[in-house]
Parts: sequence; structure tokens; C-alpha cells
Amino acid sequence: MNNARSSETLDFTGQVAVITGAGRGLGREHALLLAARGAKVVINDLGTTYDGRGIAKGQVADEVVALIKASGGEAVANYDSVEQGELIVADAINTYGRLDIVINNAGILTPEVWSELTLESWQRTLNINLTGVFSVMKAAWPVFVQQQYGRCIMTASPAMYGAGVAAYAASKAGVIGLSHSLQFEAKKLKLDIKCNVLIPQAGTRMTEDFASSINESRIAAGKKPAPSAPEAIMKRLSPDKVSAMAVWLAHQDCKAEAALFEAGGGYFAQLNWARSAPLFATEKEGVMGAPVPENIRDGLETLADFDRGDRPISGDGTMGAPDALQRVFSHLKSNDG
Ligand code: NAI
Repeated sequence: MNNARSSETLDFTGQVAVITGAGRGLGREHALLLAARGAKVVINDLGTTYDGRGIAKGQVADEVVALIKASGGEAVANYDSVEQGELIVADAINTYGRLDIVINNAGILTPEVWSELTLESWQRTLNINLTGVFSVMKAAWPVFVQQQYGRCIMTASPAMYGAGVAAYAASKAGVIGLSHSLQFEAKKLKLDIKCNVLIPQAGTRMTEDFASSINESRIAAGKKPAPSAPEAIMKRLSPDKVSAMAVWLAHQDCKAEAALFEAGGGYFAQLNWARSAPLFATEKEGVMGAPVPENIRDGLETLADFDRGDRPISGDGTMGAPDALQRVFSHLKSNDG
């Protein structure tokens, strides 16, 4: 696709975006920015509570559509759950005739710590945060392939580094594997389809309701409420500070593939996998022997040596990095016989 203004500002005229969970918080800001840059936007949101239990507030999607229209933009509301991705994608195609961008933003946060986590809560979280993305992308993918073009953004979370919400963390780590696999599929087909991951941080309804729920439990257990972040800090973490990254990843000029970007409060960073120097325990047992655990203990220094390691590449089908695999194979070969 060609955009007349792409050398100046990042323009989306003629493009169509689906943004899930765009009635509030981060999704809403992504939608407002994309629409302001000329995209026609499907505002998907079923208006649920932050933990996905029941319907909390009618058609929040309508409010965002009204805002976009009031500013002269184009948008349409969709109230389906991301579990029914085919209905959301059908709305984009039926309304605007194409689909260039999918921002998988809808998500729920279940507050239970590990000792309280139930199978029901685990499954509810995975159904929305991971299977919901599967459902939307299953429907969007044939459109991308047919157009030979698409931009897909997944929304993970710093919680996946480990922060006491196991179901949420697992679901958010899951979208990384999904995104990288879709990028691999696109590369196989040699199409201009890019899948990347946004790891945001912002003060939103989700973070507010999560904090309230944690405090209710603490008070019920006779504990003091947890100290909250100062208001000045929360103001700086407004969700509009994240959207520049989402919108960049949605643009045709963005050639990132299977990449991970953090964004929050005007801060942006890219994340990489890191692989340590290789520990060839086979040097002790020979390539045919099974290494013993003592070799691992004795090799801990090597396993902590990231200066002599490398950075695995995602989404290109080499399971990380061709160089590293090459090193292993040549090592095995050199010890052969
Ligand atoms: P939010 O709760 O303010 O907004 C999420 C929106 O998604 C809500 O309007 C909700 O109705 C909608 N939604 C929930 N389930 C849905 C479903 N099944 N189908 C369609 N829409 C659905 O949350 P926020 O903070 O804006 O979060 C957006 C995304 O960013 C989520 O995926 C969240 O996990 C992620 N995230 C947010 C962080 C933050 O600091 N706010 C940190 C890391 C990740």
C-alpha cells in the first residue's frame, strides 16, 4: 500500500484496523490515535469487568466511536467477545471491505494469587487473553494472506516476568509464542505481514480495579491496604503514553518481525532473548554419552556467561539462531567417532 504522506507523518489513510477491547484504557487510546491518522477503525468491546465476570458497562465501544466521528474520523462499534473473532473480522470486511491491522488488546486480569487460583479463573483468563487472540487471528489471517499485507500486534504484560498473577502471566507469555509462530507463517509465505508484541504499562480501569480488589481482600483479612502509587506518577502513566508504539507497529513502514517492545509513561524499549555461552558437557562424556548433572553444576559459570553467548532470533524458523545451532552441530561433528 502507498500512503502519500508516509515520508512526513505516519498516515493510515485507506487502511482498516480492528482493535479489540478498544472501549477503554489502552485500546481506546490506540483507536483514537489510529483514527486521527486516517485509519477506519472497528472498535471492538463487550464492556466487561476487569476480571471478565459479567457485563459491567454497556456499550463503551459506542463512546469511542462517537469521539472518533466527532473529530471527523471513521469508526464502527462491535460488541462481540474476542472468543468470536470471526464476527469481529466479518464486521470489518462487511463495513469497510478490507482489514490491514489487528491490535489484539482486549484482556482481563484475574486477581487471584497462586494459593487462591481456581481452574475456573485460570481458564477464564486463558480463554480471553490467549484463545481470544487465536480466534481473532484465525479469522484475520486469510484476509491478510489474500491481501498479501497485514500488521498484527499482540498485547503481553510485564506480569509475565512474574508478579503474583499466574493465570494472567501465563496467558500473556502465551501470546508471544503465538505471535512468533504467525510471523514464521508470514515469512514462509513471503508476505508483508508483521506480527509484534507490545508490553504496556499504564494506569487504567484494569489497574485501578485490580488494586481495589486486592485491597478489599487485604482489609477482609484484617490487613492494611497496600500503599498505592502517588497520584502524580499515575498521571504520568496515562494510557495515551503507550499508543505511539502500537501505532508505529501498525504502520507499513514498520518492518519489525516477531519483536517485543515495552511501553509506558513515554518510555519505550525493545526486548531480546539472550543465550549464554554454550556448555558442551559432552566434552566429558563424549558425544554419545548422556551428560551427568555434575557437569551442569561445574559449568554454571559458562551458563551465566552472556558475553560469549548470542541473541536468538524469533519467528524465522531456525528455532532461535542459526549460528548457535551451527556451533552445536560442528561440536558434535568434531567429537564424532
Ligand atoms: P481495561 O480493563 O481498561 O480495558 C480492557 C478492555 O477490554 C475493556 O474495555 C473490556 O471490556 C475489554 N474486554 C475484556 N474482555 C473482552 C472480550 N472478551 N472481548 C472484547 N473486549 C473485551 O484494560 P487496559 O489496562 O486498557 O488493558 C488493555 C490490554 O493491555 C489488556 O490486554 C491488558 O492485559 C494489557 N496490559 C495492561 C497493562 C496496564 O498497565 N494497564 C499492563 C500490561 C498489559
